[in-house]
Amino acid sequence: MNLNKAENTPPVWPDRFTALKKEITAGHEEELTKSWRALVLALKERTKEFIETGPEIVPQVEYAELESLPAEKVAEVKRKGCVVIRNVVPDEEVLKWKADLRKIIEDNPQLEGLPVDDKQFFYLYWSKPQVEARAHANILAATAWLNQLYTGEGADKRVLTAPLTYADRFRIRKPGPKWAFHPPHVDGGSIERWEDPGFRQIYRDILSGEWAKHDAFDIDGRIVAQSDLYDRPNQASVFRTFQGWLAMSDTGPGEGTLRVYPDIKLGNSYIILRPFFSPIDPAGDLFDPDNWKFDISAPEFPGIILERDGKFHGPRISDATHPNMRTGEAMVSVPLVHPGDMVFWHSDLVHSVEEEHHGNGDSSVMYIPAVPATKQNVSYLAKQRDAFIKGHTPPDFGRDGDESWVLGVGRPEHITTAAARKAMGLEGFEELQLISVV
Ligand SMILES: [Fe+2]
Repeated sequence: MNLNKAENTPPVWPDRFTALKKEITAGHEEELTKSWRALVLALKERTKEFIETGPEIVPQVEYAELESLPAEKVAEVKRKGCVVIRNVVPDEEVLKWKADLRKIIEDNPQLEGLPVDDKQFFYLYWSKPQVEARAHANILAATAWLNQLYTGEGADKRVLTAPLTYADRFRIRKPGPKWAFHPPHVDGGSIERWEDPGFRQIYRDILSGEWAKHDAFDIDGRIVAQSDLYDRPNQASVFRTFQGWLAMSDTGPGEGTLRVYPDIKLGNSYIILRPFFSPIDPAGDLFDPDNWKFDISAPEFPGIILERDGKFHGPRISDATHPNMRTGEAMVSVPLVHPGDMVFWHSDLVHSVEEEHHGNGDSSVMYIPAVPATKQNVSYLAKQRDAFIKGHTPPDFGRDGDESWVLGVGRPEHITTAAARKAMGLEGFEELQLISVV
């Protein structure tokens, strides 16, 4: 008998969320219903294409060609919201970083990581190889290029041309064990996508029944969006135009790599509209638009998880909550990468990590996103820089950690170029503050 039944019942969503649904959709019910019908049909086509094409659907470009890419290729990267950038850093440099990381793991057995009994994902932010990678001129240039895929009228252009660093972790994953840490999800804000009026602005075309016009690359909207109204722990408080990683190994599909849902407009449109529609017959054909109805009678937002403490997580995307995305089959693994290649995905893109690693070698990455110089990001940079100087865990990963004792820790003096020192907040910080508020 379970004596803790009350604790196991999911919390009840407050009525204010029914009111929110009403407020968002008022006056647009008809257009929304019409656009939802078109969306269901578009998803049917696109998911078929993802399944048939597989990893090759992810755009691949050479680092050396970034500045001269044809407009169609750039448009493809924007449409799919993801890209593999080949040869950002020479193999030898990356393999040296990996060897140094292995040595650091060996020299510091008390480092924390997961799985606890055989650590492969490390809670380490400031090792010298990580500090050097973030400072690498090509990585900074690649992230600046990605930032500039965004456009805006209000923001100073330099917000996009001055890349910032964001200290995150790394993994050296072994073949075999099952990882279930990252099922399909979206980062960077949960219920805020609907609840925060600034965040909602990003999706204004979707919410007025014109999802085909949606621009996921509007920097002005991102600057005013509040992605954390509930003070969630372990939530990135910066806005990353793209999340990303640097490959430190040869890793192909099936070897514990990233999976993506490679259509940013369709993904956003479906996730944003899903709470306002319900299937008439849940066991019937869910790709038949006649089997859906406009319905805002329930306060829940599918894929958003309300915790007992009143905080929200997600969106988590599954066949149960978002059947038309068919994430069970349609998530596409990124193609084979080699050391020095980087993989990036738009902040709104649905992504997951393969649970199984069937390869023979390690599947290893350093997490390095693209971070523009927005006001919120520049203020985080100052806190991150202070933590770096002290050798403390970065503020977003508030584990009160101290890495200053780690053998092989990186120090500010290891960052030697002006561009990298600026990206780390060690130089020219006043200028960053100025451009970030324009
Ligand atoms: Fe994620």
